[in-house]
Amino acid sequence: MSEDRLLGSVLENKYRILRLLGEGAMGRVYLAENIQLPDIRYAIKVLKSEFTDSNPQFKEEFTREAQRHAKLQHPNIVHVNDYSKTSSNFFLVLAFVDGQALSDLLDDAQGPLPEKRALSIIKDVLSALNFAHENALVHQDVKSPNILIDSFCARITDFGIARELANVAESDSQKWIGTPDYMSPEQYISPNMIDHRSDVYSAGVVLFEMLTGQLPFSGETSEEILRKHVDEDVPDPRRIEKKISKPLARIVLKALAKDPEQRYQGCQEFLLAIEAYERRNTLIKTIIFISILTAIGAMTYAYLKPQKDAGVNVVVKTAFDNMESVCLDVKLMHGNFSGIKEIEGVRKAIQEQRQSLVDYVEVTNPADVPEWYHQEIQDMEQEIEAQNSYIKNIQKQIQDNERTIKNRLRKYSEAIANLQKFDSESVEEVVKMERAGSANRTLYGDYILGDRVSFNPSGEILSIDGAIERCKIRFPELSF
Ligand SMILES: Nc1ncnc2c1ncn2[C@@H]1O[C@H](COP(=O)(O)OP(=O)(O)OP(=O)(O)O)[C@@H](O)[C@H]1O
Ligand SMILES: [Mg+2]
Repeated sequence: MSEDRLLGSVLENKYRILRLLGEGAMGRVYLAENIQLPDIRYAIKVLKSEFTDSNPQFKEEFTREAQRHAKLQHPNIVHVNDYSKTSSNFFLVLAFVDGQALSDLLDDAQGPLPEKRALSIIKDVLSALNFAHENALVHQDVKSPNILIDSFCARITDFGIARELANVAESDSQKWIGTPDYMSPEQYISPNMIDHRSDVYSAGVVLFEMLTGQLPFSGETSEEILRKHVDEDVPDPRRIEKKISKPLARIVLKALAKDPEQRYQGCQEFLLAIEAYERRNTLIKTIIFISILTAIGAMTYAYLKPQKDAGVNVVVKTAFDNMESVCLDVKLMHGNFSGIKEIEGVRKAIQEQRQSLVDYVEVTNPADVPEWYHQEIQDMEQEIEAQNSYIKNIQKQIQDNERTIKNRLRKYSEAIANLQKFDSESVEEVVKMERAGSANRTLYGDYILGDRVSFNPSGEILSIDGAIERCKIRFPELSF
């Protein structure tokens, strides 16, 4: 019979066949709708009669498997809604998956899938298989064409169908169940002895295929491929795809161990290994991320802090330097004042000596006054003149001192104003460093910190007298 006759027909008075979705070795898959609820769509898999007719027990086996499959309610298993038989064909009514088979996805990708995607798919598959195994059902035909992917998840289909059709295969000189590319060694060597670990192997092949874009073994014939599954070492997936990490490659190779004893002992264990790998990866990524952030933070801090400190440093240093200059100028001014006092003392003494000479000359007979007295008085007058000009000079110097001090005080005020821009912690830190660097600066630190706090932008920060008072502490010998 040509199944295409099915197009447009209604099966079981319920399912209208809309179009062909695809064709596999066992039959064709059609898109169908529920005639009463057209929004509900199905994928109807019609098994080829040539497989089913030759097996007298097929109906029983089919019914049993379909019932078991129908009981498997799992988000990652394509649900079997119904099963029946047309006049000549057995069919299964499956939930329609609006997506594509993993095999088509891989064809489109023409290479490996991104690791995250591959792992997400295999986790869905393993979770579905584990559920089936817990319900005593081994798939036996896990392969990428039997994994359907939509925008939500991956779903596995065709549970048990391979086994249902196995007896037919025997008559066809084919002793094994499954698809050679994905078959476990034991499926070929001892098909009656297999257990759920055979699905672990096939899922391993699917993971290998997704990560490398290739199947582990290829060959001209099914026999050749199967032989390789039995005898040949599985190639290291990292040799095909360098991006695969060592731990992930180890997971793949463990799933593909020839001896079921060496494999993951179930799909749950396989799944847990992948989840542990992902957690480890996330942890490493998080650590790397945090390290990078910390490094960036440290770099930024290291970059900004010296910048910031450099700014504070310069300003604090300016404040210290100007305060020190003020005090040095105050000291100089003090020296000048002292100089004037001394000169004034000398001048006074000379003036007094001169006065006594002048008084003596005035009251003495000029004939009795020695000549040198007059000369002495003249010299003394010149001396007094000289002292006067010294004093004038020093007074000028004092004026210069005052100007310099004012200038220095203005710069000091500017520095204090600038220090307002920096936080007190940084200022204190640098002030502390300056103090440690020079004992002379110890006193200024307190002034600088205090002036910064009480800074009044509109007023003079420090008068000369105020500066002198401060400098008396710096130079205790000073007295005005
Ligand atoms: N439930 C479904 N929903 C949507 N499309 C489906 C569904 N089941 C199968 N298909 C489509 O039908 C195609 C044929 O599926 P089918 O199972 O017949 O072939 P196969 O898996 O390639 O081979 P095999 O006969 O070995 O299973 C699939 O590739 C898929 O595109
Ligand atoms: Mg299939």
